[in-house]
Amino acid sequence: MDAANKPAEKPARSPNAPTEETVLSVKHYTDRMFAFRITRPPAFRFRSGEFVMIGLEGPTGKPLLRAYSIASPSWDEELEFFSIKVPDGPLTSKLQLIKPGDKVLLGRKSTGTLVHDALTPGKRLYLFSTGTGIAPFASVIRDPETYERFEQVILTHTCREVGELKYGQDLVASLQDDPLVGEHFGRLHHYTTVTREPWPNQNRITTCIETGLIFSDLEVPPFDPAVDRVMICGSMDMINDTKALCEKAGLNEGSNATPAEFVIEKAFVG
Ligand code: A2P
Repeated sequence: MDAANKPAEKPARSPNAPTEETVLSVKHYTDRMFAFRITRPPAFRFRSGEFVMIGLEGPTGKPLLRAYSIASPSWDEELEFFSIKVPDGPLTSKLQLIKPGDKVLLGRKSTGTLVHDALTPGKRLYLFSTGTGIAPFASVIRDPETYERFEQVILTHTCREVGELKYGQDLVASLQDDPLVGEHFGRLHHYTTVTREPWPNQNRITTCIETGLIFSDLEVPPFDPAVDRVMICGSMDMINDTKALCEKAGLNEGSNATPAEFVIEKAFVG
């Protein structure tokens, strides 16, 4: 066969191109949020709390990718994600339609600052989240290292509506019998607030910190830079306001290169 008659070959993928993974399960929590699990390539490594690019093949064959926090812990054989559904979002408007067996694209490298390496040692770890910003903490609270490093872990989750708390509630409940971290369950506190529907605590988390309500509710002292460490994940406004409260209490922002008392990451939308 001469070259002109050769069947068209798919162009070779670059070694950095995303891998194609299979959707294993999808769970819709509300009309704004859903979680899904995909296969994990054996070579894919990450630290609990990191994010990775996830996406779909676009109509022109160009991948459409967005950053997603990995919600599963680093030891899990599958990868879990918790996503917002943006009605006109270029990716999430399509991603929300995936079903088991469908293919999604997974970036090869994860990164991020919501990791233990970016915090100095402490006694109490606060994980402040709003909406799908709970995703990286779903990873962190399922990692035994978290309980080796901290005596107490406080996961806060603030949502607009009560139904949006369900993912976190199911997750925390499942930890009680978890073979790896179940024995530490008593040291994990789940603090939920809802802002746009009736709920026992109907405040933004920033209000709970400013008024001291969270500290009295949990019977812990106010922020202390000597022992308290903080990870923050939510909208940009939520991050900025929570960060300001941490700084007011004398905590400094850390990074992988320079660990300190608190770290931040935007909950990605698109
Ligand atoms: P609110 O209902 O008062 O806006 P979103 O879905 O917009 O990201 O919001 C998720 C949750 O985060 C909502 O409960 C929202 O409260 C809260 N929130 C929004 N902005 C801030 C902020 N600047 N500081 C603290 N919480 C915030």
